[in-house]
Amino acid sequence: MDKISIKGGARLYGQIPISGAKNAALPLMVASLLTDEPLILTNVPKLADVVFMAELLKSFGVNVEWTPGQKLGEGGTYRLQANRVRGSTAEYDIVRKMRASFFVLGPLVVRVGLAKVSLPGGCAIGARPVDLHLKGLQALGAAIDVAEGYVIADAPAGLAGGEVVFPMVSVGATENVLMAACLAQGRSVLVNAAGEPEIVDLGNCRMAMGAKISGLGTSRIVVDGVSKLHGASHAVLPDRIETGTYAMAVAIAGGEVELTGTTPDLVSSLLELLVLIGAEVSSTGTGIKVVRNGSRPKSVSVDTAPFPGFPTDLQAQFMALMATAEGTSRIRETIFENRFMHVPELVRVGADIKVEGDTAIVTGVGRLHGAPVMATDLRASSSLVLAGLAAEGETIVNRVYHLDRGFERLEEKLRAVGANIERQSE
Ligand code: UD1
Repeated sequence: MDKISIKGGARLYGQIPISGAKNAALPLMVASLLTDEPLILTNVPKLADVVFMAELLKSFGVNVEWTPGQKLGEGGTYRLQANRVRGSTAEYDIVRKMRASFFVLGPLVVRVGLAKVSLPGGCAIGARPVDLHLKGLQALGAAIDVAEGYVIADAPAGLAGGEVVFPMVSVGATENVLMAACLAQGRSVLVNAAGEPEIVDLGNCRMAMGAKISGLGTSRIVVDGVSKLHGASHAVLPDRIETGTYAMAVAIAGGEVELTGTTPDLVSSLLELLVLIGAEVSSTGTGIKVVRNGSRPKSVSVDTAPFPGFPTDLQAQFMALMATAEGTSRIRETIFENRFMHVPELVRVGADIKVEGDTAIVTGVGRLHGAPVMATDLRASSSLVLAGLAAEGETIVNRVYHLDRGFERLEEKLRAVGANIERQSE
């Protein structure tokens, strides 16, 4: 299993190109199931989860062609065509590896009239149920049965528009229902829908395919179903979690870096905090410049929240940053109930963190000290890399396959701006 070794202390200078967003690419790829014409996706990051999604789609008969990008940060292109959809079952062995596999439920039931998808089961960062996905599809007329670990969604005569009121904001459920509603008969209204940029991207791609959608980016999305979607070409939006992670890499290590191919509006909640901790942040027109020179970062507190609030996917990285700051900060996780698994690992490198319920109390220390640590999930792994950039001595991050699920060529991007980081393959 690969490891990443980081020798801390180097400041970062230069440019880091930001890749396309994993969390946009995955549902965008699934949308190929909604049409028999080709869907061309550009700016697709080469990540383990993306490759995995391509394999899942192939198992449903989707013809998949991949053209890789050439330069660091340059996305690849997928040509996906589902002439005929073969089968309607996503097996446990597939869905348990990647929760996003569950996105096929809505598209399959609306295109084929039947979908059998394994329940994703537990997950390291919390229970993550799928009840909202199911209630949403039921509201559009699907008969839902859960048996022997599988969800069976049945709608032999197709789906019909309806009102879906989400009791809580869910990115995945909004995406699943949005995809199905595009081909349902009549009008669907999604109330308390998620407004994350990845949903806007998904909706924009669907509109390029002929869907009729309004209210994207707000909590009320209206979809007027059409009988057929056609092919389209769409560029995946920049990854706001990768953007935020590298912005914090500069804040924790010090230096001056331009993050290219991204935009400040995707991460404004984080950029406001970075200014409060003492970093300089500016828009360059082609990206975002982050500068931190001189004194230690200052502590600030934050609660995670749905977009445009502070993303839960940046919480672990922000905690690493606060571990080195002057003062005490309180970091409250409001989206997932068990998303502090990085805390014991950060403590191993010398952080002072106490967890009280949904809040981590982080008292900054002058210096972190390198140590072997274990990645527990995707975003937690990147927080350990950030800690390693600031730590004295060598930090070895084990189980980096988690990182490979969501960060494209992370060590190359950081090495290019001066970090002492390398992958050790075994
Ligand atoms: C997506 C992102 C993930 C991010 C999360 C929150 C993808 C592929 N993943 O995950 O990186 O951390 O949004 O921004 O885009 N919930 C229910 N019932 C459901 C669905 C969700 O109770 O049917 C709960 C979850 O347990 C969680 C909360 O709702 O507590 C938000 O989850 P959700 O927005 O659905 O996250 P995902 O779509 O799984």
